[in-house]
Amino acid sequence: MKKKAPRPRSAKPRRAVPAGKPWAGRFTRGADPAAERFTASLAFDRRLWPHDIAGSLAWARALARAGVLTAAERDAIGRGLEAVRGELAAGTFPFRPELEDIHMNIERRLQEIVGEVGGKLHTGRSRNDQIALDERLYLREVLARTDAGLRRVEETLVARAAETVDAPLPGYTHLQRAQPIVLAHHLLAYVFMLERDRGRFRDCGARADALPLGAGALAGTAFPVDREALARDLGFRAVTPNSLDAVSDRDYLLEFLAAAAVAGMHLSRLAADLTLWATAEFGFVEFSDAFATGSSIMPQKKNPDVAELVRGKSGRLYGNLVAVLTTLKGLPLAYNSDLQEDKEPFFDSVDTLEAVLAVLPPMLASLTFRTDRMRRAAGEHFATATDLADYLVRKGLPFREAHAVVGRVVRYALDEGKGLEDLGLDELRRFSPRIDGDVKDAITVDASLRARAVTGGTAPDAVRRALALARALVARA
Ligand code: ARG
Repeated sequence: MKKKAPRPRSAKPRRAVPAGKPWAGRFTRGADPAAERFTASLAFDRRLWPHDIAGSLAWARALARAGVLTAAERDAIGRGLEAVRGELAAGTFPFRPELEDIHMNIERRLQEIVGEVGGKLHTGRSRNDQIALDERLYLREVLARTDAGLRRVEETLVARAAETVDAPLPGYTHLQRAQPIVLAHHLLAYVFMLERDRGRFRDCGARADALPLGAGALAGTAFPVDREALARDLGFRAVTPNSLDAVSDRDYLLEFLAAAAVAGMHLSRLAADLTLWATAEFGFVEFSDAFATGSSIMPQKKNPDVAELVRGKSGRLYGNLVAVLTTLKGLPLAYNSDLQEDKEPFFDSVDTLEAVLAVLPPMLASLTFRTDRMRRAAGEHFATATDLADYLVRKGLPFREAHAVVGRVVRYALDEGKGLEDLGLDELRRFSPRIDGDVKDAITVDASLRARAVTGGTAPDAVRRALALARALVARA
């Protein structure tokens, strides 16, 4: 039997708007449905649509400046993209998962709306430089929101600190009572951590501030696009200097994920402190009912679920960082589809951090601090033993000897079942003749606090200065 000659493809009717995939020309059969489902990213990358459209509008302008599009073509594409934007904003956009991702969905819709000229938009561009651009534009917005969210948490902590500059609290090392501090000092510790976090996100933004568009698929676009002008158009300070790097680099995501992991760790520690303080054993804080839950079986329970989940969310923030690091490891240059796996961890960290930053300010603002219990606890368990040793130092004893003397005092008091404050002057003098009547005033909680007046110390005056500094830092944009 004579073999039937294949029908030449050019014999097919030409259509302004292609059906099927953009690469259908090269393929003799369609995608397996399982493969299509497997490769689709539309379900999660659709959130990039505003940035994809902004990037395409700028690309059309750049193509016109390069003489690739006429002004009329640029304007037709611009109007079409605005129409697509309108549909996406209104929720009427016809998403088609078989078109894989948000880029091809938007481009196809543009072609449907404006006809043949829509097919000119992708000239000299690749989804490889397109996605790198979309992510950087989205990240810029995320970083602004993250900074605002961190500042709101800081502002709440600063406000609570302003109320508690004179509220003594036991300070701990090894989770053992160590020395008295004031509550404001503890709260401000977190403000300074979060300030470093803001700095990390700022640094991430500064390095991400380069335009990848124009890298094309990997080798650079073959049309005379003025990338510097395009960068200015899109608000970037610089252009990426290497097209291979531009399409395979995800450092900007890693830096965001790393900063988010560190911030999550800080907030996890804050949440851990609060859950510990809310136990009956500590009793230093009570959560508002609005930020607690009960038990389905134990009627008496009030659980700090919100704080626990803030603590728990740090796990996903770490996991997302490690996921993207692992995806990137060993990838040959330049673009590989593995890179599509960057999005879900990235978006999950964005959403997780945003949720944590949203719930913390009202939760922190509604805490009730049990300052009476804190003050009592601050003086117990030999909290001012170091101050007794410091007292002896001021009376001329070398610190190591003073430490040994006070160690013996503590041993004696423990054997007698007494606290430091219960010991009489005559009892104390048995350990050192340098101890005088002024000792009692030297080893109170307030004296202990006042003594730590160095910059960064817990003396209320020092804390007031730190509070002013924190206020200034938080106010800084
Ligand atoms: N959806 C893709 C991604 O997220 C866009 C780039 C696809 N490029 C490609 N050659 N398949 O990375």
